[in-house]
Amino acid sequence: MRKIIVDVKTPYTVLIERDALQNAGSLLKKFATEGGQTVVVTSKPIRTLLGGRVEDSLRRANLAYTVVEMKDGERYKTLGSIEELAEKMAELEADRGALVVALGGGVVGDVAAFLASIYMRGVNVVQIPTTLVAMIDSAIGGKTGVNLKHGKNLVGTYHHARSVLIDPAALATLPDREYRSGLSEAIKYGVIRSRELFEFMEKHRHELQRRDPEKLETLIAECVRLKAEVVVADERESDLRRILNFGHTLGHALESATEYRHFLHGEAVAWGMIAACRIACYMRRLDADVAHRINATVLDMVRPLPAIPEEPELILRHTRLDKKARSGVLHFILPRELGRVEIVKNVPEDILHKALRDTIEMSRAS
Ligand SMILES: NC(=O)c1ccc[n+]([C@@H]2O[C@H](COP(=O)([O-])OP(=O)(O)OC[C@H]3O[C@@H](n4cnc5c(N)ncnc54)[C@H](O)[C@@H]3O)[C@@H](O)[C@H]2O)c1
Ligand SMILES: [Zn+2]
Repeated sequence: MRKIIVDVKTPYTVLIERDALQNAGSLLKKFATEGGQTVVVTSKPIRTLLGGRVEDSLRRANLAYTVVEMKDGERYKTLGSIEELAEKMAELEADRGALVVALGGGVVGDVAAFLASIYMRGVNVVQIPTTLVAMIDSAIGGKTGVNLKHGKNLVGTYHHARSVLIDPAALATLPDREYRSGLSEAIKYGVIRSRELFEFMEKHRHELQRRDPEKLETLIAECVRLKAEVVVADERESDLRRILNFGHTLGHALESATEYRHFLHGEAVAWGMIAACRIACYMRRLDADVAHRINATVLDMVRPLPAIPEEPELILRHTRLDKKARSGVLHFILPRELGRVEIVKNVPEDILHKALRDTIEMSRAS
């Protein structure tokens, strides 16, 4: 069992333990108030796979609860789902003492935490993430949100969980593509902040690919620790959190240029990281050897990566749209060495174009 504290204003614990789902009840009991409703938010497929373990443990802990389902998938990360769930909570007569439990991937987690942040002006939420992305990224850090027709995560709040419970055994049923997409975000943490983590992934790539329990637990714990560190530092001082966007500037553009149908998020980020390395090399700010190591690990871990079907012009147009939405200046997070990145404004247009062209060619050759 590993415990990591997210040391924000109201500090909370991330507990990582194999088969933790079977003991979720005793943990949740600590956060449920006397007479308050415990509402488990999940989706049908997740409930079918994992709900039984959590519900059994809630019964064993004598904790009265209700399960409410939202529809599964990114398409339902909407204000409509929030309204439906809020109506259900009101129907259950849930009050300020209610505890929302988010059981699922990043979609359920973002929706349930958003709901918890606004229902009766805010109730507690505990996250039980069930995808690798949710375990190492979305469940930690307090960002909640839903999508609008105009774009992803355009409406949201900050609402930290009271606790995060991670059971690596829950990943056993996760489809391979989803799992590898999560590994892409894990590589990101290594490149931006921890050479050790990057080298751990390099060294244990085969074990990680076959989800070796011990290696996987170490990986999750390390990523959680790094995310917690960045979130805490950012809350206190700077815009450090920006470095979490490594690979995401072009990654987001790839996703939106292909209307979110072609890539999983982590796959788009994988190409975004490779392109960022190219940019850094063209700007003479990164050794070719290091770029090569990062590329090799990304290509091996996140394989098979869908090829990039669009041309640089369209992708760059989408980058600029993103830039507009984010106050005008285009920032790139570029690696300097393993474990250290820099925030670079004003990457020359020709370099951007060349790096993207190289990445597109690489994607079509592999
Ligand atoms: N709040 C944040 O800081 C933050 C950070 C990163 C990502 N996100 C958000 O997270 C979302 C992506 O999350 P995701 O990648 O977890 O996708 P997801 O929640 O859509 O889950 C992917 C699929 O896996 C299924 N699934 C979940 N757990 C499973 C399991 N254990 N076994 C089998 N199937 C399982 C789900 O039902 C779903 O169909 C995006 O909306 C993104 O914006 C938020
Ligand atoms: Zn991401």
